Amino acid sequence: MAIIELKKGIHYVGAIDWDRRLFDELIPLPDGTSYNSYLIKGSERTALIDTVDPTKQDELMSNLEKLGIEDIDYVVAHHAEQDHSGSIPGVLERYPNAKVVTGPKCKGMLMDLLQIPEDRFITVEDGETLSLGDRTLEFIYAPWVHWPETILTYLKEDKILFTCDFLGSHLATSELFVTDEAKVYQAAKRYYAEIMMPFRNKIIKHLEKIEQMEVEIIATSHGPIYNNPKFILDAYKEWVSPDVKNEVIVAFVSMHDSTRKMVEHLVEELTERGVVVKVYNLSKTDIGELAMDLVDAATIVVASPTVLTGAHPLAMYAVYLTNALRPKLRFATIIGSYGWGGRMVDQIIGMLTNLKVELIDPVVIKGYPREEDFKALSKMADEIFEKHKGINVMK
Ligand code: FEO
Repeated sequence: MAIIELKKGIHYVGAIDWDRRLFDELIPLPDGTSYNSYLIKGSERTALIDTVDPTKQDELMSNLEKLGIEDIDYVVAHHAEQDHSGSIPGVLERYPNAKVVTGPKCKGMLMDLLQIPEDRFITVEDGETLSLGDRTLEFIYAPWVHWPETILTYLKEDKILFTCDFLGSHLATSELFVTDEAKVYQAAKRYYAEIMMPFRNKIIKHLEKIEQMEVEIIATSHGPIYNNPKFILDAYKEWVSPDVKNEVIVAFVSMHDSTRKMVEHLVEELTERGVVVKVYNLSKTDIGELAMDLVDAATIVVASPTVLTGAHPLAMYAVYLTNALRPKLRFATIIGSYGWGGRMVDQIIGMLTNLKVELIDPVVIKGYPREEDFKALSKMADEIFEKHKGINVMK
């Protein structure tokens, strides 16, 4: 990305990854991503805030070169994951006087992951400050967004909060600031769902802390940055709130249409009762879309045939991810079909250990659904409808 001046003496020097489509070999990136890095010049010292993914190191170095940067005093490492830290060794080599500024936990991880020598670090405590002359960096510990070592930096005089992954989005765009809030809302929600949701309770506390601060710009290390911090803080408050929506996710896989017929009937019955249903065919779906709907939904229905005595592997994958993401689901149930037996229900329930869900009686049938099976699914729709009436439901 081109070098952009955010404010006098503060430049964006990061890189956009327009065509990256997978992160951690797991998370789909339909809109690419960016690795945001910022150069802050103070009257006496210069700091680089995060680096970029090692695949984009040349862009970072070229940006620093174009800006005529001969010396860097501090490289602030908010987070040890390599998409931000991976170019630190290259920066340290080019700028031999530079020190990596981070918390003790991140220091240990950077020494392990990138083999950065110990004498290149300055460690800071929560709340500690570092002067650049006429500008001051204040460091704020923010563990578990999404690794245990994460810190944030508040540039006091400019009221800019640098948050690394936290509050970010995987969205490649040449616009530095958010211009299309609806688009960024979706990308940031996907990011929250895929990466931050398991740490909802920690995030609530971090948001409370940020709300006490005077922040004019939130500069993340992925996606466009926020000159209206309220937009992203309000979105996060909604996502982390204990309330859920009157929504059911049906995550299904069907081999010979028995399970599909059951799904179609249940979806119709729920829709007639005014319950919003989001249906995902697990053989086709982008798992990130499913994760996004898990942010708000009250109920999940896992629908699967029986394969080799258990649930279909695609259903197991979705259940595993759902359990790992720890959404605020209130209810769960299972529907599906078997040919001659199996232990699908016990297997799925056994994988939902992280969720505080009430189990609604499953409907698992032999073969193709008959009249009484459809009746059982209608009864399930009644039960879900009644359960949803008794909970806090977001509008
Ligand atoms: Fe963007 Fe956790 O790295």
